[in-house]
Amino acid sequence: MGDADWWRRGVIYQIYPRSFMDSDGDGVGDLPGILARLDHLTWLGVDAIWLSPVHPSPMDDFGYDVSDYTGVDPVFGTLDDLDRLVAEAHRRGLRVLLDWVPNHTSDQHPWFRASSSSRDDPRRDWYVWRDPGPDGGPPSNWLRYVGDSAWRWHEPTGQFYYRVFLDSQPDLNWRNPEVQEAMFDTLRFWLARGIDGFRIDALVVLVEDDRLRDNPPNPSYRPGEDFPYMRELSVWNVDRPETRELAARMRKVVDEFGDDRVLLAELGVPLEQTMAYYGGDGGGIQVPFNFELLTAAWDARGIAGYVDRYLAALPAGAWPNWVLGNHDSPRVASRLGPAQARVAAVLLLTLPGTPILYQGEELGLGDVPIPPSAAIDPIAQLVPGRGRDPERTPMPWDAGPGGGFTTGRPWLPVGEENLSLNAAAQRDDPASMLTLHRRLLQLRRQTPALVTGAYQPVEADGDVLAYLRTTPGGDRWLVALNLGPSPARLALPGPAAAGRVELSTQPGRDGEPVAGSLDLRGDEAVVVSPTGHADAAQEPDTRPG
Ligand code: GLC
Ligand code: MG
Repeated sequence: MGDADWWRRGVIYQIYPRSFMDSDGDGVGDLPGILARLDHLTWLGVDAIWLSPVHPSPMDDFGYDVSDYTGVDPVFGTLDDLDRLVAEAHRRGLRVLLDWVPNHTSDQHPWFRASSSSRDDPRRDWYVWRDPGPDGGPPSNWLRYVGDSAWRWHEPTGQFYYRVFLDSQPDLNWRNPEVQEAMFDTLRFWLARGIDGFRIDALVVLVEDDRLRDNPPNPSYRPGEDFPYMRELSVWNVDRPETRELAARMRKVVDEFGDDRVLLAELGVPLEQTMAYYGGDGGGIQVPFNFELLTAAWDARGIAGYVDRYLAALPAGAWPNWVLGNHDSPRVASRLGPAQARVAAVLLLTLPGTPILYQGEELGLGDVPIPPSAAIDPIAQLVPGRGRDPERTPMPWDAGPGGGFTTGRPWLPVGEENLSLNAAAQRDDPASMLTLHRRLLQLRRQTPALVTGAYQPVEADGDVLAYLRTTPGGDRWLVALNLGPSPARLALPGPAAAGRVELSTQPGRDGEPVAGSLDLRGDEAVVVSPTGHADAAQEPDTRPG
């Protein structure tokens, strides 16, 4: 695999800049802070960082409301700081990806200020403006993310504008070629500065039906459980054919700068639709996020079945990817508990495909409870119980005041429990979550089978999930995960029958020989290397397939 494939081999680490490291004591993380902590990332062994938005923004949605796509918000630093960060990251072999928010701008963006100033403004058509429907209400029944109408009345100019997220995040009109070119140019701006690619925000909501056809109701909507917008089937305003075409054009823009730039995209649509974003001829998004592990029931049979379906659905040449956490979802340790969070780490880092690791997962951080009265995320007000502050709290670097994150007052609390999980305390502890991540990342680096090897499920039952990663040369690595609390025995089929424990999520098993079967403790995951795999390579392969 050449350099153009770095993102297939690599592990991508998501940084939420507000919460990674604060260098100037204002309580908000910043770019010099990230620079100061780059050693953590190279020591850990990740290959790329993706920064959630750092552009100028009124911060209504903490940077996902951009008011200038080619600048840096002063709270994060300067353009020079970003250039310096990229140069220093590159010097260490770390790639840098930015977050690109094409669906909407901030209402403070000069484009929207102009567009909303008058119906005759040359930029009027840069956003999605419509007259009321026949009844004087919204022009269609489409819902926004938080569950009310996606159309917002604009009194001064007497029309509705379309917005999927906050009132202050108006959707751009991607049917307008001027919008397309202006936005593609923002990609070019960063690519020319050496940025290695982008995570595209909320891609599936880019374009809406031009005839504004009403969505049908969703018969399987579960009130209280599902997000309120899900009471409709969003067939006319989500994942439109025009959006898929635009995704391919984004890829062309990125390809203008060489074959080693990569596009990641947030989709959040069912499997078959996700696959469409790879593009028929591989000319689409290289990493259309696979969110299954974010929401899947933690059930061995269910996950094994999903892995099979996902891998089988990949178009020719497409590369898989796995997302375990992000800044919009409860943290892994809070979802699964600390023991299964370790099992999940082994899963994420040994499944075939590019793993995306959210900052703090390597420390096993949990959500920090934020009482409703202290909530900062606007979603906490709009959809009670769904606020995202708990998973966005600062990284604890050491046990000092502010957790080593800030010398000031952190914008969100570090949290007592997370403070005890600080990086300094875990760094030299062989049993820590951090050490587990570092060992897994080292193992990946040394073990082509775990990165580019074929995936072969191993028959298992109950809470056990097991698979082989194999190379054409005959290396066979076994990964066995116990997703439940009770001990379990896994019978091993012929070729995988012998090996030794290379790594376990629990102490005292390294080097243990494995023959014929493998005993797993409750909540344990192990990686088994083939015994003397150089010899094994000479054994004839008698398996079918
Ligand atoms: C994406 C981001 C989320 C943001 C939303 C609107 O889902 O991950 O944080 O609020 O888009 O930009
Ligand atoms: Mg700061």
